[in-house]
Amino acid sequence: MHTVYGVGIRKGGQGKSTTVSTLARLCALYGARVLVVDLAQPGSTSASLRDLWPETEHADLASVLLAWRALPPGATPDAKQAGELLGESGLPVDLTSQPSWSGGCIRLLPWDDVLGDAAAFLQSERVLKGFIDALSKDTDITLIDFPAESGPLLVTALAATDKVIIPLAPEAPSLEGVDAMLRLMSRVRSAGHPIELAGILMTRCDPKNRRVFDIWQTLMQADEVEGEILSRKVLPFAVRQVEFYEQAFRYGDPIWERTGNPSHWAAYVLLTEWLLRDAGLDERAIIRRGPAILPPETRILDLSALVLDDPEIPLADFERAHLPKSHR
Ligand SMILES: Nc1ncnc2c1ncn2[C@@H]1O[C@H](COP(=O)(O)OP(=O)(O)O)[C@@H](O)[C@H]1O
Ligand SMILES: [Mg+2]
Repeated sequence: MHTVYGVGIRKGGQGKSTTVSTLARLCALYGARVLVVDLAQPGSTSASLRDLWPETEHADLASVLLAWRALPPGATPDAKQAGELLGESGLPVDLTSQPSWSGGCIRLLPWDDVLGDAAAFLQSERVLKGFIDALSKDTDITLIDFPAESGPLLVTALAATDKVIIPLAPEAPSLEGVDAMLRLMSRVRSAGHPIELAGILMTRCDPKNRRVFDIWQTLMQADEVEGEILSRKVLPFAVRQVEFYEQAFRYGDPIWERTGNPSHWAAYVLLTEWLLRDAGLDERAIIRRGPAILPPETRILDLSALVLDDPEIPLADFERAHLPKSHR
């Protein structure tokens, strides 16, 4: 089984690319075979994975998409032909596997500057879906970094996606970005493509900032929005605002090589395990390795503890409170 997750919100700067690149590394560390599709300007996800890039030649994803510009609306490219074309183009780029991944891998369809223009020439919105399908037998999980702006590239991304993860930073305009994303998904559903909300992840949270609580409360108290009960989809842990994430794409290496404090990335470990289970890869979620091994006292920002003086609680307590026994 293979699930395609889109990470998206109709607003920039919410931690989409940081989430995709960190999740991809962690999923690989759990032994999963990950396909990353970077459709978000200016290619921060691709840049954030730079330490893993091999020296290889490859064509642009845009030129590969354009090979199917004559495909009529609604049609999907033939999987065999799509696979061959990718192979000839040197795509996806096989990132350098790490010994600790034990069978996991990351393959990347990298961002390029003309992707938006290329998508505008396509008649079928299912061209990217054809490529992802062609790679599916060697993929456990696909992560797409969605464009923040509307347009044909986003339409193409949505047509390839099963489930959406919405990251949002605690700022009032982010809620509009969530609304707009859910509206768009609802339109895609009405057009016959079953796309679902997987989860809402709060990112860049400073536990001392009152707005974190306000935004969380707004989400928890929202009525049904576009067919989604948001309170059931908000993940219970939040990613902390940490200086080591700032401009992560400039460093091109993982956060755990820039700081030794596991509290800084622990929420992404929990997100990875949640995602692997959501994707039906439960057996992968069990074995923590390398930077995913968190000491039980690692502090987790627990959103339901925001009313307390200190909402950061030890991992062991967090897992007791939020995870079923079988998942601890
Ligand atoms: N948890 C975090 N703490 C601090 N800065 C962050 C965090 N997550 C992301 N950032 C920074 O915020 C900016 C926006 O994040 P990014 O992942 O690029 O968002 P998006 O892809 O949604 O535009 C980047 O400079 C990034 O390095
Ligand atoms: Mg981005």
